[in-house]
Amino acid sequence: MSKRETQNSKRRAFSRRAARKRGGGEWRKEVERVLITEEQISRRIRILAREIERDFRGRELVVVSLLNGTVMFLADLIRHLNLPLRLDFMGVSSYGLGTESGDLVFTKELRLDVRGRDLLLVDDILDTGKTMSRVLPKIRALKPRRIKICVLLDKPSRRVEKIRADYVGFEIPDYFVVGYGLDFAERYRNLPFVGVLHPHIYKQACQQICPK
Ligand code: PRP
Repeated sequence: MSKRETQNSKRRAFSRRAARKRGGGEWRKEVERVLITEEQISRRIRILAREIERDFRGRELVVVSLLNGTVMFLADLIRHLNLPLRLDFMGVSSYGLGTESGDLVFTKELRLDVRGRDLLLVDDILDTGKTMSRVLPKIRALKPRRIKICVLLDKPSRRVEKIRADYVGFEIPDYFVVGYGLDFAERYRNLPFVGVLHPHIYKQACQQICPK
């Protein structure tokens, strides 16, 4: 390495350290541990994509993604799907504290006509199943030919509605997970991995917001 390259590399290392000191990355400490790494996610998505391709071969697919948590998973999944597809979004959000599903509100309706189409419904996590149990009748009413559900994460131990996903990235225990699109109070979505949120973070938030 030349002297100039050495100096440039030292300068870059210094800037990274300075950025960390300014608080860059501090919030990551609120994540107790990494549950699923970037590499594991990426490998699993390629396998899911092959399964979906096999099941939908020869069909023109409409992928319907539930906002907002699904963004990272969706982007990575569809870039590996070697099929003709169209993409649409449904906005649905629970007005809960972040650890429990609260009342659901629809914030965006589908724009594409899905009648007679093969539809792949994509979400980041299947937890209690309340979201899917509200979304499915709405979509069924639009008369698609068939509906398959694909989720990155499945927490079967929390299920209260009888919902099953056709494609599951990872089945996980009842941890409060964030990252790779999943949030707590709208934060942590940009983490490239799925991590377990430190319980003191959501307990703290609950103490501030929960009625006594
Ligand atoms: C999350 C997630 C799922 C839903 C799963 O959405 O994206 O849609 O909860 O939970 P359930 O199975 O218990 O219904 P949220 O309402 O938090 O909105 P977000 O996608 O914007 O994070």
